Amino acid sequence: MRDVAVIGVGMPKWGELWAKSLRDIFVEAALAAIDDSGVDHIDSMYVGCMSSGLFVDQEHIGALLADYLGVAPVPAVRVESACASGGVAFRQAFIEVASGISDIVLAGGVEKMTDVDGGAATFALGTAADQEYESFQGATFPGLYALIARAYMDKYKLSREDLAAVAVKNHAHGAKNPRAQFPKEVTLEQVMHSTMIADPLRLLDCSPVTDGGAAVVLCPLSEAAKLGKKRPIKVIGSGQASDTIALHQRDSLTFFKSTARAAQKALQMAKIKLEQVNLVEVHDCFTIAEICALESLGLFAEGKAGKAAAQGMTRLGGELPVNTSGGLKSKGHPVGATGIAQIIELVEQLRQEAGPRQVSGAKIGLAQNMGGTAASSVVHILEAC
Ligand code: COA
Repeated sequence: MRDVAVIGVGMPKWGELWAKSLRDIFVEAALAAIDDSGVDHIDSMYVGCMSSGLFVDQEHIGALLADYLGVAPVPAVRVESACASGGVAFRQAFIEVASGISDIVLAGGVEKMTDVDGGAATFALGTAADQEYESFQGATFPGLYALIARAYMDKYKLSREDLAAVAVKNHAHGAKNPRAQFPKEVTLEQVMHSTMIADPLRLLDCSPVTDGGAAVVLCPLSEAAKLGKKRPIKVIGSGQASDTIALHQRDSLTFFKSTARAAQKALQMAKIKLEQVNLVEVHDCFTIAEICALESLGLFAEGKAGKAAAQGMTRLGGELPVNTSGGLKSKGHPVGATGIAQIIELVEQLRQEAGPRQVSGAKIGLAQNMGGTAASSVVHILEAC
């Protein structure tokens, strides 16, 4: 297996991009990544996208996006793993370069979610839950994560304020990220009094509905200095795992086994200890998800991550900065693109190019991206060379 590096990143601003189509959004991100890398061609591409069919009535987007990017006839594959589609696309690109099959591979992600109304968006997202046992019975993702939140709050005596502190922290980080959908600070009071969505989760506990794209370019580490123009960032670990899609079949609602397993695999490959990680991007599709993800990764003992945001441990400047990009909460969550955007935040941090969000001296970063209520998880570990 060859060592692999990320040599280019591209992520234009996210939000409600009514003037741009799915293909425009992807092409803009991909061209930015290619430009940042300095390569003059790509050999292959993977695109994470959860549901272009339900959001914009378009399938077969691997070929479509390669065509509009102007790179046909290179092989182009659309990757779907619900909200983990981007992270899994990145892993496929990593595997292709590591195997020696291709040298320069683009991994992208895109979703255009705001062309449908809120009900249709909720339905499209709900297709990633178990249709028979969850969605058909009326459960939505805010509803499913509300069950997880209730279980956690009951088991570990977590207060509503502690949960809200996750949103306050991530919005404080996102306010420093001009590409975020909601780059603004929110107060504890605003979170606590925002509209109730699925008790106990309120509007400001939820990631929004977003249009956005993101892309990165990978190549063999040995070629990175010749091909790329910026400091290469090495991919030292990659792990992926799955779990029951329905929540009711699990031993625990609050511990994501797929995340734990993916992290174990990624750490094994990276040959590092978790304590060496300087910053983490986790999948905070809801405030409670950040807490459960941190515990499932092993960064906190079970029941101990709940107060981490409130105590300032996971803030920029804290012991372990989490979601310095603003996370899904503030940056937005165009589901297929999220996993790639997490990688981009790590690359910019490890290049020491994160500006006001910079984690001083960051050398190793970890990204955790999950689909549904963690029926699929993918973890990557990156290191500055
Ligand atoms: N964070 C911060 N602000 C948000 C927001 C969010 N998550 N969602 C909406 N807003 C803002 C909007 O900009 C709008 O502000 P304005 O009135 O100043 O224009 C206001 O809040 C109301 O927005 P609206 O779009 O009407 O909200 P909504 O009720 O249609 O949708 C949710 C809110 C929470 C239901 C929706 O964002 C949602 O479904 N989120 C979860 C998505 C999801 O499940 N993803 C998959 C995860 S597994």
